[in-house]
Formats: sequence, structure tokens, C-alpha cells
Amino acid sequence: MTAFDFRRSLKLNRRRFLAGTAAVAALQALPVPAAAGVRAYKLKAASAPYKIDPKRPETAKTWAYNGAVPGPVLRAGQGETLRIEFTNGLDEATTVHWHGLRIPNAMDGVPHLTQPPVKPGESFVYEYVPPDAGTFWYHPHLRSTVQLGRGLYGAMVIEEPEPPKVDRDVIWAIDDWRLTEEGGIKEDFDHRFDLTHGGRLGNYVTVNGKSLREFPVKSGERLRLRLLNAANARSFGLNFGPLSATVIALDGQPVTPFQPPSNRVTLGSGQRADVIVDMTGKPGERITVVDDHFEKDLFDFVTFVHAPGKPLRESPLDAPVALRPNPVPEPDLGSAIAQEVVIQGGAMGGLTEAKFQGEVWKIRKLFRKHRKVWTLNGVAFADVKTPPMFTLKRDASYKWTIKNDTVWEHPMHLHGHHFRLLTRNGKAVTPKPLLDTVLLAPDETVEVAFVADNPGDWLFHCHILEHHLAGMGSVVRVG
Ligand code: C2O
Ligand code: CU
Repeated sequence: MTAFDFRRSLKLNRRRFLAGTAAVAALQALPVPAAAGVRAYKLKAASAPYKIDPKRPETAKTWAYNGAVPGPVLRAGQGETLRIEFTNGLDEATTVHWHGLRIPNAMDGVPHLTQPPVKPGESFVYEYVPPDAGTFWYHPHLRSTVQLGRGLYGAMVIEEPEPPKVDRDVIWAIDDWRLTEEGGIKEDFDHRFDLTHGGRLGNYVTVNGKSLREFPVKSGERLRLRLLNAANARSFGLNFGPLSATVIALDGQPVTPFQPPSNRVTLGSGQRADVIVDMTGKPGERITVVDDHFEKDLFDFVTFVHAPGKPLRESPLDAPVALRPNPVPEPDLGSAIAQEVVIQGGAMGGLTEAKFQGEVWKIRKLFRKHRKVWTLNGVAFADVKTPPMFTLKRDASYKWTIKNDTVWEHPMHLHGHHFRLLTRNGKAVTPKPLLDTVLLAPDETVEVAFVADNPGDWLFHCHILEHHLAGMGSVVRVG
């Protein structure tokens, strides 16, 4: 790669990006011809065996969108119509959920709640206008533990009209896989240990479907990293060490640019972060980003290898500027209606009883018979016929206090809305981000607020997919 003028970088940058990073998926990801203002894609889910670790003998039984793990990056301009003709080439039913997009309920992809499941061989057309620019993603919402666990997911970029100037705009879809010694996918999905503990944690981390040991950069280069945690359960905590990392967006929503505490960007399952990283190493220098989220489980996430020779630029760049906010309504904290969500259950949680399908069960029996072990406000979620946890007045502001009364962390995800994170354990958060998923540490309490402006029945659930399966879900109705 040759150096290029930073001020000219945008166009080049885009071209390089399209030619480089997205190459694997590009062939099948190109939008298909459509009317002006419409971005149309064909998307097909099917089994697509793939060697996740090229050093091991076995080809894994992965499933994929358009034959690529992860699926193609879907792009559209803010305010453009996205039309996705989806076909199910799997042997089982599925749907596609557009995580973080504040779109009409009928397009949300939740089986039985917003649409019938898409049966094998069937198609479904998703069509909507993404209101917000940012980094989002898509994945199935049926048998999610298995379907995501086998590789069904992809990133989405809704483009800003004026993106910030960077040398490279890079998507890192991060996943961890549970591989066997031979390299196959360990077929112990929905194992009782994973349901009751921290979910299906893997043993092999990939970025865009491949192990990423090293990432070549140039001294002085500015990257926009669009980080996406697509793992079933694992949280990542990327410690950028001596590099300057500035968070400019979380869960697709612009945030007042800030340096994350301890220079660590933490992502629970489902979360995204857009981070501007300046490569401040000298030519030839190697700087390693360590994932130190789990103290006992540190690992080298990636090493930025600075090219020898002339740096891309000598003098440091100005601090990144804020992105233009998206049209998300601001909750009125003065009039907000207060509600509480208490999360209970799981291993070592001491929960003895739960409501399930209208009856009170002993938790041991409930787990034995129905594999439910987590509750939200005392209720173990059975399926979408479970009565709504809350019915919200359309366009009213709500303030939720979410209490994690368990010894596990939980990334709690609300469909169809973004909420503003106000406090953690009673302490104000600064800046206050707009999130679609908030990661709660064990025993932590958070306050969030949002305007219930999107009518329909929406899921609120833990994005550790095994927790969701084992009862940690709910329906929130916006009337
Ligand atoms: Cu990314 Cu209900 O999920
Ligand atoms: Cu959870």
C-alpha cells in the first residue's frame, strides 16, 4: 500500500475498503439493481462448510449468509430504502433480525411475534428505511443459540452523509467459536452448564471469520474501527494500551467522543463501538491489543504492526470530532414513568421459584422439565405468548431501573428503540450513551430512559443467547 494524502483520503479510502476488507463477501454482496433511493440485496441462509482454523484438519459445519462467514456487509445511505429479499436455504425455519435498527415492528424479524417463521425453501422480503446512520448487524432470531453459533450473522453500515475523515474504515465482526481439537464445531449446543452459567463461551476467536493475529498499519495512520460483538455469549474488553482510542459511537449511535476508561473498549454480546484509533507507534513497532475483560482469561487480541520506513504522517491529528446525532427522540426525565426490571436466577443465584406460563414452579423442577432458570421480574420467559412485561404508552418517556440480582453479567437488549444510559450503581455515566444493549456486571444496577415511540410488540432480552433461551426474555408492548 502506498501513502496517500489525508485530505484526499475519503474517496480512495472507500475504494480501497471495498476492494480489500470486504473482498470475501463482495461477490455476493453487491446490491442488485433497484430504483433510485433503494438499496436491494439478495440474502440466502444455507449450510456452508468452512475451515474456521486453517491449521486444523476438519472443515466446520458452519451455516452462512450468501456462503460467507460472516455474511456480506449490507450498506445503505441514511434515509435510503433497504430491500432485502431473503431466502431460507437451511433445513430449518429461521428469520432475520436487524439488530439496533429502529424500524417498523413488522420488519423486526422475531418469529411468531412480528412475522411467521420463514420455512425451508421459503422467502421473505424485508423492506424498510433505516432512520439512523451507524454500525448495526443482522442475525436470525430463531434457535439463535445454534443459528448464530454456526455463523449466521453479518454487519450493516448505514452511511453518514458526511463521514469523519479517516485513513481506513474497517469493520471487525468479532466472534468466538467452540471448536474441537480437529477444528469442527463442538456440537454441545444448549448444554446445561452454558444455560445456567455464562453462556456458550468459545475457545477460538475470529475477526471477520478468521483468526486475526496481526494487522498491518502505518505510523500516523487513523483508523475507524467498527467493532461488533457477534459472539453468543462472550464479552470482549479490548485494551488499546499505549494507542489513543476515542469512542465516537456506541450501538450505532453517536456519542460525545471520549477516551474509554483504562483505554479499554468493552463489548457485550450484540454491542457495537465505533472507535477512532491513531497509530502512534514508530515505524517497525508492534503494539498489541490485549483482551483483558476476564482477568483469568487474558489473550492477545491483535498486534498492530507498523510498517517500516516513512510514516504516513509525522504530526498528530486533531482530536476526532463528534458525529452528527441521529433523530432519536430524547426522553423527558421530568415526566418519565418509572419502572423496574429485576434479573434473577442462574447458577449460584439462590433463586428458588419462578412464574412460568402463569404458574409458580420450583426452579429445579422448571429447569428439569423446561430448561428455564432465569427470570425477569419473577417470570421465566416461555415464548412470545408470554403476556407483556410492560405495556407502554406510545410517545411517553420511561425510566427503567434494571437490577442484576445474579452473579453473572448480562447484555440486556431492547428491540426497536435506543435508550439513554443514565447511571450505573447510582453514579452518573458520562457521556450518557444511547444504547440498544446495556451490559450489566454481576450485582450491578443501571438506569436507562427512552421514549416509547415505536408501536408494536418488542423483545427485551439478554443477548447471551443461552440465557435468553433459558428464560431471560420478555415482551414489551408499545401501544
Ligand atoms: Cu441481536 Cu433480539 O437480538
Ligand atoms: Cu444473561
